[in-house]
Amino acid sequence: VSFLDQDRDPFPDEIHRGQLQDLLSVAPGGGKSILDLGAGSGRVALPLCACEHEVLAIDNDPEAATILGQQDIETIVCDFLKPGWDAVLGDRRFDLILMLGNTFMLVHEIDAALRLFEGLHPRVRDEGSLVLDAIPQLHWSEVADGYWVNGINEERGEVFRWAPDDNVFALRDARAAHADDPALHDSDRLHRLWTRGELELLARATGWNSPRLSPSGTLLFFEKA
Ligand SMILES: C[S@@+](CC[C@H](N)C(=O)[O-])C[C@H]1O[C@@H](n2cnc3c(N)ncnc32)[C@H](O)[C@@H]1O
Repeated sequence: VSFLDQDRDPFPDEIHRGQLQDLLSVAPGGGKSILDLGAGSGRVALPLCACEHEVLAIDNDPEAATILGQQDIETIVCDFLKPGWDAVLGDRRFDLILMLGNTFMLVHEIDAALRLFEGLHPRVRDEGSLVLDAIPQLHWSEVADGYWVNGINEERGEVFRWAPDDNVFALRDARAAHADDPALHDSDRLHRLWTRGELELLARATGWNSPRLSPSGTLLFFEKA
């Protein structure tokens, strides 16, 4: 199943290129101030920097910070789910705030998502945007076509399991004692496959407009309501 394969290289080339093209067309001349949340090894931060944008990267993985630091990208190691995390930003505001490469699927708790969307609102300049992967548009058709089902991936030694009552799923080590348990556990790596409706509700509840799909269909832009 596509995105589950690689945290560090989350998308096929075509989607990666579509995202970059759409971001660069919003900010063609460089000079934008961009916050990249969960920047990883810089799939997006590096090309944006190369196009003369000013990028601040945030990641809670010190290894990511080392990689980005070696490329001269300003990086802060920090957990953006922790209440009050944004004190590390001082009074900085941004033209674009990005959460890409399936990073927002890791925000599976509704309260955490509400807190994040609310907290990022004053951090975006009036004409700026919060940008997420087009999660529903990229993945929902695969669910509808029957590719995302409970079961074991023998090759990866991993079990995929939906929550019994939500569009949240766990990825588990197939050797875990609870590998076949239908209930989700604290130790599971959880992801939310955000639907279009959920994202609209989240946006409207926190002062953003309903998201706009980018020309290549790979990104969602949220602007202030
Ligand atoms: C799937 S990678 C995406 C990397 C990059 N944004 C991309 O588009 O390729 C997710 C990144 O988010 C980071 N991350 C996940 N949860 C985080 C959190 N709560 N706070 C900060 N970083 C987080 C991970 O360490 C990882 O580097």
